[in-house]
Amino acid sequence: MMILGFVKMSAACLAIVAATLAAIVPLRAQFPTLPEGPNRELVEAVCGSCHDIEMVAINGRSEERWRLTIDEMAGYGMRVSPGDRALILGYLATYLPAK
Ligand code: HEC
Repeated sequence: MMILGFVKMSAACLAIVAATLAAIVPLRAQFPTLPEGPNRELVEAVCGSCHDIEMVAINGRSEERWRLTIDEMAGYGMRVSPGDRALILGYLATYLPAK
């Protein structure tokens, strides 16, 4: 009977852990991510390499302001080819426009 009680306790513990995890996971998924669009993966890889991509995704900026942001990131040490830079700017200006 002791053993059975222990098994029941363990099952109850597991159920609590599972319920807690289930509650946490969707919360995590609510963090802003980049909208679907061409070159999304490129932007995620480049702009998510130094800080969370949320830092980018929460913003809405005009093309000019995104250009300045990219200049600022270059000042922090970001290295991208001119081609990738143009693709990134195009994505940001299109999918994260000024609010
Ligand atoms: C070389 C590292 C690096 C890369 C790559 C990088 N950033 Fe940053 N970024 C930083 C640093 C450092 C800060 C400022 C420090 C902080 O607040 O964490 C910052 C801050 C920011 C901020 C908040 C400040 C602001 O201007 O409002 C935004 C937005 C941002 N980055 C966007 C981008 C975008 C878009 C890209 C891709 C084009 C990018 N970052 C790539 C290093 C980087």
